[in-house]
Amino acid sequence: MSTAFAPGKCILFGEHAVVYGHPAVAVSIDSGVEITIEESEDWEINNQYNTDGYEKFNPDKHPHIQHIIRDLFNYEGKPLRINVQSNLFSGAGLGSSAALSNAMGAALHQFTKPGKEIDLIKLSKIGHSAEAATQEGRASPTDSAASSLGGCVVVSGERIDTLEHVFDTSLVTPEGKRSWSIHHAELHENINQSWLVLGFTGQSSPTGKMVSGVAERLKQNHELYEEMKSIENITIAGLTALKAGNLEAVGMAMNSCHEKLKILGVSNELLDLMVSATRSHSFGSKLTGAGGGGCMVALTDNPTRVAQEIELCGGKPLISKFGSSGVYIKKKKNKL
Ligand code: MEV
Repeated sequence: MSTAFAPGKCILFGEHAVVYGHPAVAVSIDSGVEITIEESEDWEINNQYNTDGYEKFNPDKHPHIQHIIRDLFNYEGKPLRINVQSNLFSGAGLGSSAALSNAMGAALHQFTKPGKEIDLIKLSKIGHSAEAATQEGRASPTDSAASSLGGCVVVSGERIDTLEHVFDTSLVTPEGKRSWSIHHAELHENINQSWLVLGFTGQSSPTGKMVSGVAERLKQNHELYEEMKSIENITIAGLTALKAGNLEAVGMAMNSCHEKLKILGVSNELLDLMVSATRSHSFGSKLTGAGGGGCMVALTDNPTRVAQEIELCGGKPLISKFGSSGVYIKKKKNKL
């Protein structure tokens, strides 16, 4: 038996633009996905949403898991019983599918090579490949890198000399080959005096559909490429503020980023409502992730008040500190 946990993520700046090589800043959050696998007579899966407990594993219903087992690990061992537990809202822009892929990759690694240290870079690439396979070939490595490495990651089409470089990766997308550099950013200690409050609209929104929507709009309106460039400038300003511990400036950059995401056509009425309702008790707020529903995020020193505002709008709040640890194998408990 082996168990692994992988955190979800929150994109602070640069979602969508990062698919085209512009920089994005993402942090891991406290909530995530835990997967336990063990040998069984048949292929079975359980997640907390199945009221009937374990059911027959259907690859079409679990494409990320199937891609990891079959294409990436070429696993040909005995059937597995897979238990998935998540405390992330799913389809909500919090990287639940990347966390699922990372937790599955880590659990299968531990299961097939017990005790051998996990290569986090390889795991990030596995997670990215699983994301791309289910997003019509358009996916940046942001979600999988934030979930596997933990902390604050900066993903960019070019190396950023002022940051610690971790690895490079690439992908052949429908628009051609794209490459990204993944960096680690050290945040100022002031940031620990604030919280991220995520607000789920209750509307699940498939990332693949949102990313293809942006690709379509870019084809029809080339001026949107300029908006992507402005998102890049906002991202750089936001990152500078994060490193300097200037919460007001981080918040201002978040507000500006939301306006640009609206122009890209990925916000909606409820997201806009929750974003504006939370502004008076936060440094800044914006939609986070793919949009079209999903989640918004506010940066605040008053998380309870912001969570209340989200509830008053009809959303579900989730409070998190910044940059928890990345994926890890859970140790077996010793029997007493
Ligand atoms: C999804 O969490 C973030 C997007 O930028 C897509 C991606 O980076 O693959 C919308």
